[in-house]
Amino acid sequence: MDFDFTEEQLMIQDVARRIAQEKIAPSAEHHDRTGEFPLENIRTLGENGLMGIEVPTEYGGSGMDPISYVLAMVEIAAADAAHSTIVSVNNSLFCNGILQYGTEAQKQLYVRAIAEGREIGAFALTEPQSGSDATAMRCRAIRQEDGSYIVNGKKSWITSGPVAKYIVLFAQTDPAKGAKGITAFMVDTAKPGFFRGKTEPKLGIRASATCEIELQDYVASPEEVLGKEGEGFKIAMGVLDAGRIGIASQAVGIARAAYEASLSYVKERKAFGAQIGSFQMIQAKIADMKCKLDASLLLTLRAAWKKQQVETKGGRFSTEAAVAKLTSSEAAMWIAHQAVQIHGGMGYSKEMPLERYFRDAKITEIYEGTSEIQRLVIARNETGIR
Ligand code: CAA
Repeated sequence: MDFDFTEEQLMIQDVARRIAQEKIAPSAEHHDRTGEFPLENIRTLGENGLMGIEVPTEYGGSGMDPISYVLAMVEIAAADAAHSTIVSVNNSLFCNGILQYGTEAQKQLYVRAIAEGREIGAFALTEPQSGSDATAMRCRAIRQEDGSYIVNGKKSWITSGPVAKYIVLFAQTDPAKGAKGITAFMVDTAKPGFFRGKTEPKLGIRASATCEIELQDYVASPEEVLGKEGEGFKIAMGVLDAGRIGIASQAVGIARAAYEASLSYVKERKAFGAQIGSFQMIQAKIADMKCKLDASLLLTLRAAWKKQQVETKGGRFSTEAAVAKLTSSEAAMWIAHQAVQIHGGMGYSKEMPLERYFRDAKITEIYEGTSEIQRLVIARNETGIR
């Protein structure tokens, strides 16, 4: 076991840290307050290879490994979680599935534009009446005689939906087959039959745009099917395994920012004639925050390492990804909560970023599979009982 990072991994971490500190952190409060989509910063991240970190260079990416992805995501999330949500969806949910299941033409068309940061991608699985129970989707794609599909249905909570050029979308092609009757499609948002619905007013990650989308007699050509008909659920679940490593990294980044702010504050702030860091009740909080933060980072790196092993040796990394996401998201929520408490009134004030970390941390326990779903995945895989 080697706890050292390679030169390449340190290099991408450095690039991400520089952009995060110079461009993202100074505008984080503005983006949180206004909800404005940070297009300029996303372009900068794309130009520096951070929108396709694991994408091979022949498709416009950086050709780096999953550990590099974790390191970059942590830096971006520590500066602003909303930016890291956009980075994560493009890298994990959009590019991963196309790289694994797409044709050469699909990789050139869809992956390149997103990896270079010229366009934004999205992932549409959730529907108004189906979130955790993803196979209960109603969006329907009916195959025509010429091999094309007519797609009708609504999808909700689509991260980057308001700005996405392309969307990986899942629809039922054979409802009688349940999970095996779902197919993945590449949707071009400029084509007729694609509509955007209401934008979600969110508690946190406010600069990451989220909306409903609707397809009305949208025609998908055979070239726009990702993988084979009926393979959609497997693609969605595999992509979410990778996505969960991204969200775990995001949670680590938010937790680190909240922890570091607390560490400085307990050394500066005085009460009863002493630094508050000298009080045992504060020391206990700092120690517990540090333990949870380190455990989260290490489990997230382990999941990334396992993903890399699986890429060459086969198998799955579902359990490792779920363990990392569950541990890191609950740690981020707890650490952000403690950070607000340590800062007292200032933690509750919008003059400091603690309340933003607290609001942003919450989503990591919800999207890309709630904490309850992560527990279900882990327990099913451990016990073999379904
Ligand atoms: N990789 C590959 N295949 C998988 C898989 C995985 N990780 N997980 C399941 N499958 C396969 C199974 O092997 C099974 O196939 P076989 O019958 O051939 O074995 C098939 O898929 C069906 O699996 P299940 O019976 O386990 O399916 P289920 O209906 O019980 O659901 C679930 C399982 C874990 C609950 C799943 O529905 C799930 O993960 N739900 C949560 C959905 C989710 O994470 N949504 C997030 C939305 S996206 C989002 O938030 C993005 C954003 O905008 C940021």
